[in-house]
Amino acid sequence: MSNDGVNKGRRRLLIGATSAVGAVGAVGAAVPFVASWNPSAKAKSAGAPVKVDVSKLEPGQQTIVKWRGKPVWIVRRGDEALANLEKITDTLADPNSEVPQQPAYVPGTAARALKRDDIVVLVGICTHLGCSPTYRPEIAPEDLGAEWVGGFYCPCHGSRFDLSGRVIQGSPAPSNLVIPPHSYEGQDVIIVGVDQEVA
Ligand code: FES
Repeated sequence: MSNDGVNKGRRRLLIGATSAVGAVGAVGAAVPFVASWNPSAKAKSAGAPVKVDVSKLEPGQQTIVKWRGKPVWIVRRGDEALANLEKITDTLADPNSEVPQQPAYVPGTAARALKRDDIVVLVGICTHLGCSPTYRPEIAPEDLGAEWVGGFYCPCHGSRFDLSGRVIQGSPAPSNLVIPPHSYEGQDVIIVGVDQEVA
């Protein structure tokens, strides 16, 4: 499946340039992430962990890295977005993330976050049939309706997810988006692919 270009053109999208061996910063928009991700073939085949420095990620911004061939989204939520996550519980199929779509060390809270509630890490693949949903952080855009408080929309069959990747009732997707194994170094460096316990 090709994921490049899926979120191209989103104004608030940052593209993360990453390395399998060291943390690097995010760079400007409009550069497809596949072009900036170029680990060695050896690292690629090993599915090496990916370090991402989120210190420059602003509230509302998303960065995308590639880990084990999959897009991994890292999104920073602002205060309003975090508050909205608590208000939409009744609209969600699995608000407390009881279906194990995340490592056990990620709490089943509205934020679905480790260490920093403002940051969520998600595998960007729809749990219906595997398309890559689009980041839609806007409030009540015309095409998604007045109830939309920001989230991810899958254009293939219309699944909707909130900004924690929790699936909204009535979507064809059966479960929340997957949270990959990850951990932190300090407050700003996320290691995708290394579990919190063993970091
Ligand atoms: S693949 Fe996303 S809704 Fe079907």
